[in-house]
Amino acid sequence: MMSEDIERICFSADEIRTRVQELGAEIARDYKDASETVYCVGILKGAAIFFTDLVRAIAHPVAFDFMIVSSYGEATVSSGQVKILKDLDFSIEGKHIILIEDIIDSGTTMHYLKQMLQARKPKSIKICALLSKPSRRVVPVEIDYLGHEVEDEFLVGYGLDYAEKYRNLPYIGVLKRSVYE
Ligand code: PRP
Ligand code: MN
Ligand code: MG
Repeated sequence: MMSEDIERICFSADEIRTRVQELGAEIARDYKDASETVYCVGILKGAAIFFTDLVRAIAHPVAFDFMIVSSYGEATVSSGQVKILKDLDFSIEGKHIILIEDIIDSGTTMHYLKQMLQARKPKSIKICALLSKPSRRVVPVEIDYLGHEVEDEFLVGYGLDYAEKYRNLPYIGVLKRSVYE
């Protein structure tokens, strides 16, 4: 059932599932000759749902780690400042890293994180995002694995929130303007 706060559904649960399986297969193919474990780093909280679905679609040994970062808080526009609320548990030196995000919008979060983690000398570092809004980019981000490009609309569901709500919707939808205006 569709939440009454949702204008329209952008990606149904089925569409998301299909794309996530494809991304997992693509990643497994790219790392198939790597004997090492691939460190999948989920950027919480937005990436929580995408992360757990995606890692199960990667047929290669992976390890989990998580960072909690926040730049939006209760606002609809990025504060431009990235707050690290929880850093990685493990050293990433010499490891293959994939940063897993729900959405790349202004690029602030990913640009900041990639630079910060690059300095810790991983063997490789890639970015996987389910969604990207190129029209909103302020800082450039090279996305290695992308689910879908989206228009500049306020999206929620499948991990994406507005003021911490709607993350548990099984689909991704456009939030009605009346909810945040
Ligand atoms: C959202 C989203 C990304 C980031 C993208 O996180 O999950 O992490 O913003 O925006 P950017 O490209 O403009 O940086 P948010 O800060 O809302 O925290 P959350 O993941 O806990 O919702
Ligand atoms: Mn986030
Ligand atoms: Mg958020």
